[in-house]
Amino acid sequence: MNILIIGAGGFIGSHLSEEILARRKDWRITAVDIASEKIERLMEDKNFDFIRSDILKDFDLIEERVKNCDVIFPLAAIANPLIYVQNPLKVFELDFEANLRIVKLAVKYGKRIIFPSTSEVYGMCDDDEFLEEDSNCVTGPICRQRWIYSCSKQMLDRVIYAYGIRDNLHYTLFRPFNWIGPRLDDIRNENNGSSRVVTQFLSNILHGKNINLVDGGSQVRCFTYISDGISALVKIIENKDNCADKQIFNIGNPRNEYSIRELAHKIVELAKKYDKLKNLVKKIEIVAANSADYYGKSYQDVSKRVPSIKKAERLLGWRPLIAMDELLSKTMDFYFAN
Ligand code: UGA
Repeated sequence: MNILIIGAGGFIGSHLSEEILARRKDWRITAVDIASEKIERLMEDKNFDFIRSDILKDFDLIEERVKNCDVIFPLAAIANPLIYVQNPLKVFELDFEANLRIVKLAVKYGKRIIFPSTSEVYGMCDDDEFLEEDSNCVTGPICRQRWIYSCSKQMLDRVIYAYGIRDNLHYTLFRPFNWIGPRLDDIRNENNGSSRVVTQFLSNILHGKNINLVDGGSQVRCFTYISDGISALVKIIENKDNCADKQIFNIGNPRNEYSIRELAHKIVELAKKYDKLKNLVKKIEIVAANSADYYGKSYQDVSKRVPSIKKAERLLGWRPLIAMDELLSKTMDFYFAN
C-alpha cells in the first residue's frame, strides 16, 4: 500500500510515519512537508520517500503524488489556539482552502482519504460525552475568532461526507482529543500561547516562569497519549472488512479526564523528579490568568470535552491504554531526561 502523508513532519505525521516504517514493511510512505526536523532519522528508510514541498504553492506536485497513492492523510494544518485568534486567515488558508484542494483531488482520482477532523468541531457542546453521530457542533459569535479552526474543520467534514454520498468518496474522519507526547511542540519557545497546554506548562517550568490557569483552570480536557492515537490510525488504514469506511471516529481517552488546574499540579509534582528542573520548579507559582489578556479578546473556551469512544471500540477494536501519569512521564522524559 502506498500512503501519502501530507504534513508528515508534524507531530502526528512523524509518529504515524515512525510506526508504519517500524511495523509494516509492506506499506510505503510518500512524505510531504516544508519541515523535516522531526523525521530526520526516517530519511534512510527505503520505504520512506520525503519531498520538501509547500502545499500552499506546489499544486502540481501534490496532484502527481495523489495520482500515485492508495491512501491520503492530509495532516498539514495549524492546530494552536493562539494562532486561531491572532491569524485566523492563515488558519483558513491552510486548514480549509489548501485541504479542500486535496479533498477534491481524492474525489477526482478515486482515492481513499483519512482526514483529521478535530475534537474542536463539537465546540461548546454541553453533552456529557460527545457522540460522532448525535452531538451538536456549537460555536460562538463571529467576533470570537477562535472558532475559525473549528468551522474550517467542520466544513471540510461536511464536504467530505457529502462527496461520500454523491461521488462514493471513500473516507474516514478521525477526531483527536488532546493528543500528547514527544515532539508535540517546541518548548524552547518561551512565549505564552506558543504551545498546547501540556507543552506550554513544560516550557513555563523550563524557563522558570509561572504557570497560567486561563480563567481559573476549571475547564476539562481528556488527554490521549500519541501511541494510542497512532494505533487507532493504523487500524483505520488497515480497514479490516471496511470497518472504517465512511465513518467518523472520536479518538481520545475518556479515562484521562482532568481539569487544567489538576493538570498543572500534576506536572509541577512530576517536574520535581528531574534534576535540571528541581530548582526551577521551586520558583514557580500556579496563577490565574484572564483569557482576554492571555489569548486576546476574540478567544472563547471549551469548558468540558469528553469523547465517547464506543464507536471506535466497536468498529475498530481499539481502546486507549496509556493512563495520565504514564502519559505525562513519557512526555516529560522526552523533553527533560536527556
Ligand atoms: C486544542 C487545539 O485546538 C488543537 O490542538 C486540537 O485540535 C484540539 O484542541 C485537541 O487536541 O483536541 P485546546 O484543548 O483548547 O484546543 O488547546 P490547548 O492549548 O491545549 O489548551 C487547553 C486548555 O488549557 C484551554 O482551556 C486553555 O485555555 C488552557 N491553557 C492553555 C491554560 O490554562 N494555560 C496555558 O498556559 C495554556
